[in-house]
Amino acid sequence: TAQFIFMMAIAYLAGSVSSAVIICHLFRLPDPRRAGSGNPGTTNVLRIGGKIPAVLTLLIDVFKGTIPVWSAYFLKLDPWMLGMVAIAACLGHIYPLYFGFKGGKAVATALGAMLPIGLDLSGLLIGTWFFTLLVSGYSSLSALVTVTLAPLYTWFIKPQYTIPVAMLSVLIIIRHKDNIRRLINGQEGKIGDKGKTNE
Ligand code: G3P
Repeated sequence: TAQFIFMMAIAYLAGSVSSAVIICHLFRLPDPRRAGSGNPGTTNVLRIGGKIPAVLTLLIDVFKGTIPVWSAYFLKLDPWMLGMVAIAACLGHIYPLYFGFKGGKAVATALGAMLPIGLDLSGLLIGTWFFTLLVSGYSSLSALVTVTLAPLYTWFIKPQYTIPVAMLSVLIIIRHKDNIRRLINGQEGKIGDKGKTNE
């Protein structure tokens, strides 16, 4: 349990590294918390600064989830503990310690945290995200569809992780409440849209 508490702390501290803010700063771009949708995440960095900063943001945010969960896995922590470590990483991303507790929506970090479950699940999740994006054009809707299906996929592939995955899904759906409102009102910006599309 000392290992468990230590890994939870590591996960939260890693999750707190708001890569969108750092990358935008390094690329001399506007602060993603104040430009575009105001969300420090890959989609908004793409909106503000284009592909290269967006891919870097994505990679760092994914690793923030993968590294703590993988480390905990090699320490032989129980499945529910791995789930808690995943949630701690996402809570770090959503409420970052070093960035005034104002973070993102944890889509990339949750994906990263679920990667160690297996390539089959990851492939399904990434496939669902891209398929929804291709059909709809909305990044937020793609995330919402993907996380809604994630517990179902997990149930079939590795049932012991269904509950933690469902908890991640609920967290992410709650974080998208403004996106959900905009989607319903037809005001959500599509992924290619530039500038101040939302809010
Ligand atoms: O992954 C975040 C995405 O689902 C929504 O981002 O910036 O369009 O609110 P944004």
